[in-house]
Amino acid sequence: MAQERWTAVDTYITNLLHPHDPVLDAALSDSVAAGLPSIAVSPTQGKLLTLLALANGARNILEIGTLGGYSTICLARALPPGGRLITLEYEAKHAAVARINIARADLSGVVELRLGRAQDTLPKLALEGRGPFDLIFIDADKPGYSEYLAWAVTLSRRGTLIIADNVVREGEVIEPGSTDPMVQGIRRFYESLAAESRVSATTIQTVGCKGYDGFTIAVVINGK
Ligand code: SAH
Ligand code: DHB
Ligand code: MG
Repeated sequence: MAQERWTAVDTYITNLLHPHDPVLDAALSDSVAAGLPSIAVSPTQGKLLTLLALANGARNILEIGTLGGYSTICLARALPPGGRLITLEYEAKHAAVARINIARADLSGVVELRLGRAQDTLPKLALEGRGPFDLIFIDADKPGYSEYLAWAVTLSRRGTLIIADNVVREGEVIEPGSTDPMVQGIRRFYESLAAESRVSATTIQTVGCKGYDGFTIAVVINGK
């Protein structure tokens, strides 16, 4: 019952507030057709990313975990002229689908997709002197989140918005004895976040067509 209701409410909101999005619809259907997992952010969550990037005036965005480029498009759409987004993806197959979806959204000129493990591509970005980024979206493998948070802070400035997806996991996050490596990864992420004096953060639990999960929102308060 609850899931049906959450999905129906998501549909109600989407139909009223941001219907008819052929570019995002095609990104999703091509991702499914290519056999990618159905784990992109939902339409309302994607719109939230667009709005947060707009509100923050983001010109330089970093995304960790591209999949088929759905959230990439949501974020890149918010960029002003001259803005850039770098997205990091490990799976060549996901990256290939994403490149097509990003091109269809007419965003190939502003999005740079870097193939490889984020554990390797993040230090390269730092070595190249890239950043600071205005907004960083963490959404790759959950065991990596604690390390991604550390890189996000390194690649930030005061005022950078750091957003992390899937940080509630149906409430499993409060189970210290969970045998799920994703839950343990998220718990290590929270421990790192709690110990990180340079950011101020909270998590909003969410329900919707993707079930029960949540987003962490953090702002760098003491960066460069
Ligand atoms: N942000 C996307 C969903 C990302 S799903 C959206 O909402 O539309 C998570 C992605 O992270 C997958 O494509 C997976 O291949 C990728 N990934 C997993 N481990 C990774 C790693 N170590 N480095 C970079 N990407 C990784
Ligand atoms: C999973 C990953 C995600 O990024 C997501 O939004 C939902 C699920 C997963 O790996 O299970
Ligand atoms: Mg996610």
